[in-house]
Amino acid sequence: MQDIGRAQAPIGVFDSGVGGLTVAAEIMRQLPNERMVYFGDTARVPYGSKSKDTVIRFSRQIIRYLKTWNVKAIVVACNTASALALPEIQKELDIPIIGVIEPGAMVAAASTKNGKIGIIGTEGTINSHIHTRLIKEQNSSFEVTEKACPLFVPLVEEGLFLDTPVVDTIAGHYLDIMKEKDVDTLILGCTHYPFLRETIGKVMGDRVRLVNPAYETARALGNLLKEQGIASEESPHDKEKQYIFSVSDEVQKLYQFAKNRFPFPVENALQINIEEY
Ligand code: DGL
Repeated sequence: MQDIGRAQAPIGVFDSGVGGLTVAAEIMRQLPNERMVYFGDTARVPYGSKSKDTVIRFSRQIIRYLKTWNVKAIVVACNTASALALPEIQKELDIPIIGVIEPGAMVAAASTKNGKIGIIGTEGTINSHIHTRLIKEQNSSFEVTEKACPLFVPLVEEGLFLDTPVVDTIAGHYLDIMKEKDVDTLILGCTHYPFLRETIGKVMGDRVRLVNPAYETARALGNLLKEQGIASEESPHDKEKQYIFSVSDEVQKLYQFAKNRFPFPVENALQINIEEY
């Protein structure tokens, strides 16, 4: 049954920084009636090299913050937090929560032709081996090659992802193993990586399918909201309040980043002292 009151509440979306904007953009495209509160932990990025306990603590603080907006569901738009914190925090929540790992792993398993799948992500995500476990559950004969690419996140956070020689060299170095192993499907297992898609695509060549879990995550969210009877069926009347963007470091950096790289306007963003939550 449709719960009209809850349907009007926003979705909370969070990441360690600006990477989750790739997921936010997909949600905005696919679910245009939904409201959203985005939080990027720009003061504490990167999460990829932090311990599991720290990522869980940060995620709990962010969820407490998002709940002050009375969110109806949460999307963990960060692979590292999805790998390290989601299994723990979903037990503590009374609202639906989804991460980005399962949707990406499922689509990769369904699309490979030669059974050879690559996964790139942060050290935290790769060391959790969670993608490999999910893919092997689909078909135990699939061969999965994992590679942590710790320099990719700072390149994106610094806005350094256009066709520059330094990005080409780093991408070539990280992706060599994927070519050697002849993968035909490569999961961009970090929400920052779609910003490097052009370079990664150039290094891997046309034959390799790049999986951006953002698209599948937005689809999974849409299905979940419908199943739970909390999907918004009409466009919000106060359009200017439909999307709230918040970060833990200064907002100017977010504006600068979003200006050329995010397909929707980002205005009136909030700076939040997340340590208070
Ligand atoms: N964008 C995040 C992810 O998907 C994490 C990047 C980081 O903070 O290290 O894993």
